[in-house]
Amino acid sequence: MFGKKKRVVGLDIGSSQTKVVELLPGKTKRLINYGISRILPDAIVEGEIIDREAVLDSIRTLFESRNITTRDVVIGLAGRDVIIKRIIMDRLSEAETREQIKWEAEQYVPFDINEVSLDFDVVNPNYGENQQEVVLVAAKNELINNLTALLKELNLNPVIIDTAAFAIQNAFEYNYQPSPDEIIALVNIGAGMTIINVIKGSSSLLARDVYYGVNSYINKLQKEIGFNYEDAANAVKGTIPVGASRDSIQAVFESFVNDLSTQIERSLQFLSTVTGEERVNKMYITGGGALIANMVDYLKKRLNMSVEIFNPFKNILYDPSIFAPEGVEVVGPILTQAVGLALRGD
Ligand SMILES: Nc1ncnc2c1ncn2[C@@H]1O[C@H](COP(=O)(O)OP(=O)(O)OP(=O)(O)O)[C@@H](O)[C@H]1O
Ligand SMILES: [Mg+2]
Repeated sequence: MFGKKKRVVGLDIGSSQTKVVELLPGKTKRLINYGISRILPDAIVEGEIIDREAVLDSIRTLFESRNITTRDVVIGLAGRDVIIKRIIMDRLSEAETREQIKWEAEQYVPFDINEVSLDFDVVNPNYGENQQEVVLVAAKNELINNLTALLKELNLNPVIIDTAAFAIQNAFEYNYQPSPDEIIALVNIGAGMTIINVIKGSSSLLARDVYYGVNSYINKLQKEIGFNYEDAANAVKGTIPVGASRDSIQAVFESFVNDLSTQIERSLQFLSTVTGEERVNKMYITGGGALIANMVDYLKKRLNMSVEIFNPFKNILYDPSIFAPEGVEVVGPILTQAVGLALRGD
């Protein structure tokens, strides 16, 4: 993506919590530090920063409380101002492709092409007789500039700007070494957004964000059972409020996962239209939403495929006490994107 390799920390500015991950540089990766810090609800809505001070506070707290001194960060972009698209274009040299990509992108990017940053990755140099298949990434400069300015206020320097979807994929490749022909859906269920990235081997077939996540579950619990926000947020994490009925929570959970599954299915249907690839072999879920009790089992049944929770520390060394008292099973999935970002460093 945009930037160079060096000693960095991975910083994931999520809409409900900011996360940071620091890995020991070198070939064998070891976790040396991580942190998670809440943000006020509604500070970030649909990827847009509404309450700048709240976001600044959360990141500042994170770096101070974890004593992080590295100022070079890697961040990931997601949301409406970022487009990831697999396109077919004439087969050209790398340099020529770089020159040509702007004109190609114009057809696919719904923003003014002079106001976006572009990058690409040739995923299949031999498409047909003289074409190549390329994954195009376009991000609005405004988004990049706003984030850069925000980080600058905290004396942080974004040395690499990635996309959230590719950071998650990067974490997956490092930990699971996908085989070249396997088609895998990586699904990050966040608070406000679910990021779906279907990969084949090490290339992305389709990446989409949908604005549906754990917040939708919390809202449903508030609306349908009458919980206040706190009770609803606790119920999501398995603490049933006094006097509440387990069955009614289960019914709301099912309705939420059913809607979420419909969103995922739509993206997977799109996959066959765009790429002709039909069969997703397996789904890995991550993000805070992956921790909801029975999520895996329900998705398995509803989507009729193999589903597993994605542990971003599977192949990373760490002292297990670093995750105490919760354990890596509970903390890991929340840190997936930050791990993928941190892995972009040296
Ligand atoms: N142990 C848990 N069990 C169930 N849900 C949980 C658990 N821990 C966190 N969550 C939920 O997961 C969400 C946070 O997940 P995550 O940190 O991946 O989201 P985010 O990155 O802040 O949001 P987004 O990616 O949408 O911007 C919260 O809504 C929280 O309620
Ligand atoms: Mg997130």
